[in-house]
Amino acid sequence: MKTAIYPGSFDPVTLGHLDIIKRSAAIFDKLIIAVLANPRKKTMFTAEERVELIKLAAEGIPNIEVARSDRLLVDFAAERGSFIIVKGLRAVSDFEHEFQMALTNHKMDNRLDTLFLTTNYEYLYLSSSVVKEIGILGGDVSAFLPQSVIEKVAQRFKEWGAHDGGRD
Ligand code: PNS
Repeated sequence: MKTAIYPGSFDPVTLGHLDIIKRSAAIFDKLIIAVLANPRKKTMFTAEERVELIKLAAEGIPNIEVARSDRLLVDFAAERGSFIIVKGLRAVSDFEHEFQMALTNHKMDNRLDTLFLTTNYEYLYLSSSVVKEIGILGGDVSAFLPQSVIEKVAQRFKEWGAHDGGRD
């Protein structure tokens, strides 16, 4: 059975992520979506909330599991016995960082390989950061999010907009 891991911050899950989830789940027998810590980013949603949002977004896809970990991706992969990492690649701007992570992970554990799926052109521009910026400043984010998470995410934006004035 071929199991792959799709790691990310997913803060929050967007239509771009959901597209990668659907396409990866169609390629592999099982897909583990791993909500991991990215020390470079301060998140708006807790890890538990991000897991719940992904579960809501991906409801009905039978061969997925949503997990979270505070450990390194290489440790999570070893723990789960799965060494295929899937990432979505949007544009040139993603490439350098993704390339660095893929090579570093492989250096740390040479059983690990990273496969990149090119993003659907419809979502080329889309990122969680842009969605957060629009949402916190009162914009409509419903075109960017899976239907089932819009209400929950919009509610959080409303609270943040009111109390934090758009802190990153
Ligand atoms: O969605 P993101 O923020 O681009 O995902 C980045 C993520 C969470 C996959 C990356 O930061 C990660 O793998 N975090 C776990 C800690 C780790 O292994 N860091 C070393 C990366 S080379």
